[in-house]
Amino acid sequence: MTDRFGRSITYLRLSITELCNMRCRYCMPETGVCKKRHDEMLTEDEMIRAIEAAASLGVFKLRITGGEPLIKKNVLSICERAAAVEGIREVCLTTNGALLPAFSAPLKAAGVDRINISLDTLDPDKYAHITRGGVLADALRGLESALSEGFSKIKLNAVLIGGFNDDEITELAELTVRYPVDMRFIELMPMTAGAFAPEAYLPSSAVLEALPSLEPQPEDGGVARLYRLPGAQGNVGLISPVHAHFCVSCNRMRLTADGRLKPCLHSPREYPIKGLSKEDMILRFREAILAKPAWHGELTALHPSGTGRNMNQIGG
Ligand code: GTP
Ligand code: 5AD
Ligand code: SF4
Repeated sequence: MTDRFGRSITYLRLSITELCNMRCRYCMPETGVCKKRHDEMLTEDEMIRAIEAAASLGVFKLRITGGEPLIKKNVLSICERAAAVEGIREVCLTTNGALLPAFSAPLKAAGVDRINISLDTLDPDKYAHITRGGVLADALRGLESALSEGFSKIKLNAVLIGGFNDDEITELAELTVRYPVDMRFIELMPMTAGAFAPEAYLPSSAVLEALPSLEPQPEDGGVARLYRLPGAQGNVGLISPVHAHFCVSCNRMRLTADGRLKPCLHSPREYPIKGLSKEDMILRFREAILAKPAWHGELTALHPSGTGRNMNQIGG
């Protein structure tokens, strides 16, 4: 289905849990999340019904997100049933990677096509700091296991944070030489005022300055502008939601674990679908698609996202 600005909505990001085994500083508060009542969250059947509703309106790409999707008990069943929905051509998953050593093989068997892994730093101490307690070696083992299970087009995501990992741009980008993966640098999005100093909000052009040998590559329809290091096996991608937003080509709808359709990551507008029949879900999807704003509005340290949620409650 097409929205009011001619954008065709073909991609659903479904968050299956708000909970996470890490506490990344840009994503959720130190205290974690206040666990919501079970009956406030979507059931597995409702998730599948929502995917069917979306598919009937032309969505063919699904990404399972969180929180951390791999801590959800029934993640494999959700993936398997999602992959079987008529019209869904690609099921992807975004994870912090820590649980992938145990999950890469069953995810592959469940029909997951692609995996993206968050990796902000290659320094174990900095990793523990930014994730508030995560273990870098676990995420790297997760990457190795996904590669050895035969997952291809794996994308690594680093949130670019001035004063934190801008000194590691080269090292992170060189992962594309060592492994057949893409390395994407994401501009830090201000979710709450004052969480980071203004200097933390670097434009992704900082990556181009740090790596003059990057060569532009053809676009692949995703949100990143693509480049490549000489001799690399994968691309370096720049995702610039803050300094050069890509809203004009936005093709996505988000569904939160508590059953709210979000037409835009940075808007507070939400359309509840919990408890609805498939037919009513289709109507709600239509309403939400027609309510997609032209763009997400100003985002700066002083003017943060108006979304009213932390990132773990949306799914990125
Ligand atoms: P591919 O399917 O591999 O292209 O993945 P993806 O980039 O769609 O998904 P991923 O979960 O890896 O997201 C990467 C980053 O891009 C996250 O930080 C998202 O929040 C950000 N992002 C994705 N879509 C949007 C969007 O519509 N608006 C904004 N502002 N950021 C987005
Ligand atoms: N700014 C930019 N990216 C973020 N992510 C989570 N919070 C933020 C933020 N405030 C990223 C994670 C993950 C993806 C789904 O979203 O690093 O890779
Ligand atoms: Fe968890 Fe991902 Fe948020 Fe980090 S960014 S706290 S790994 S959901």
